[in-house]
Amino acid sequence: MNVDVLLGLQWGDEGKGKVVDVLTPEYEVVARFQGGPNAGHTIEFDGKKFVLHTIPSGIFNRDTVNLIGNGVIIDPAILEREIKKLNESDIDVSSNLFVSRKAHLILPSHRLLDAASENAKGKGKIGSTLKGIGPTYTDKVSREGLRVGDICASDFKDRFQSLKEKHLQLVKLFGFDYKNHLIDGIDYEAYEQQWMESLTQLNALQHVDSEYYINKMLRQGKKILAEGAQGTLLDIDFGSYPFVTSSNTTIAGVCSGLGLAPNKIGKVFGIFKAYCTRVGSGPFPTELLDETGENMRQKGREFGSTTGRARRCGWLDLPALEYAIMLNGVTELIMMKADVLDELSEIKVATAYRMDGNLIDYVPFEACTKVQDPVYEVLPGWNQPMPEPNSGQSIPEAFEKYIRYIEHKVNVPISMVSTGPDRTQTWFR
Ligand code: GDP
Ligand code: IMO
Ligand code: MG
Repeated sequence: MNVDVLLGLQWGDEGKGKVVDVLTPEYEVVARFQGGPNAGHTIEFDGKKFVLHTIPSGIFNRDTVNLIGNGVIIDPAILEREIKKLNESDIDVSSNLFVSRKAHLILPSHRLLDAASENAKGKGKIGSTLKGIGPTYTDKVSREGLRVGDICASDFKDRFQSLKEKHLQLVKLFGFDYKNHLIDGIDYEAYEQQWMESLTQLNALQHVDSEYYINKMLRQGKKILAEGAQGTLLDIDFGSYPFVTSSNTTIAGVCSGLGLAPNKIGKVFGIFKAYCTRVGSGPFPTELLDETGENMRQKGREFGSTTGRARRCGWLDLPALEYAIMLNGVTELIMMKADVLDELSEIKVATAYRMDGNLIDYVPFEACTKVQDPVYEVLPGWNQPMPEPNSGQSIPEAFEKYIRYIEHKVNVPISMVSTGPDRTQTWFR
């Protein structure tokens, strides 16, 4: 038995949460392997809507174990709020949520540092979610971070204090007035107090050595799904650096973020929107700054699940999609949100870029420094509302042609298509 993986092929928000939830009944374990509460994964069913930031999207199935792997970074205060929201809907996580002892903690002062650093960047800011992601992964790599397993250590408070003091020095160097900065609506001191109190909740969860845990599950023949956060084009190595997040969002992150050997990887589900979105700064060659882009934003409700920011919208970018498929070894594609294009009589797809007067069909190193003018192919739209999967109707012919066109271009089958936010609005091909 191998571990299947689902990851985003664009700039995040492809609809990973929805699809993981749809696939969960087939799996006994769902595991997050990287990222932190910068993620916002939306799940809708029975008229209810949930947004998860740290907890895997398999949590709505009582029989599925949900594991937060060592590669994930955790803000205990955000996690506590997340658990509270689930509890309000009678979803209990005490028996099926497991946390790696090696997962790093996002301290309140990491969030200050994130804000101070973004503030100092001025026009060059990344557009971070300000959840402390960059500073926490920085401390992990510089071997100064605190981990879930450290909370019970007798010197935890001292280590917390000395890391915090280092952060405050840096914040001062940035000239950042942290006393007047609010974190999730409250001042630093109040947030720190909330954070400390939330450690009780984190401690009450089941802590595991997740690398042993997941490999044991695998030996027992359990079906496991790894759930990515963010997307390939935000990967620290392969994304549009520096406008990226601070983790490996691509397939390699599964191995390092869960303790899995590469030969344990099974199917790789690559998920993408029928168009493209991006939230935050950075290059976006097919971005539409016109009415068509605005219509996509409104119809697709393209506003950040974590920050509420408007997402930038544009046409599907095939060179970028092929790049993501190559990097991840995608075996099956899942296309999301085609319903958002319902009212269009024609749909454009970028098949190459023009850069420095040359035609290129790959993602160049200069992605952030040179203009890439997309070269488009134009396809007919279906220009009719998408039927519901259980209506007995089939999908519009022009939509089927759009699917086949992409399959043909990238040479990977599209095995699922999503045409609405609800669980039920999913077609299996
Ligand atoms: P994730 O971060 O990849 O899990 O994606 P998000 O939850 O941040 O963003 C996807 C948004 O699109 C959410 O609001 C979903 O409810 C919604 N969504 C997912 N699939 C579809 C779909 O096929 N059609 C439409 N219209 N909305 C969808
Ligand atoms: P999910 O899992 C979309 C973006 C931010 C910013 C950049 C760096 O919901 O798909 P960070 O907070 O990581 O330092 O921000 O990455 N970003 C996301 N964009 N979806 C996400 O997650 C994202 N997580 C981070 O907007 O541009
Ligand atoms: Mg999201």
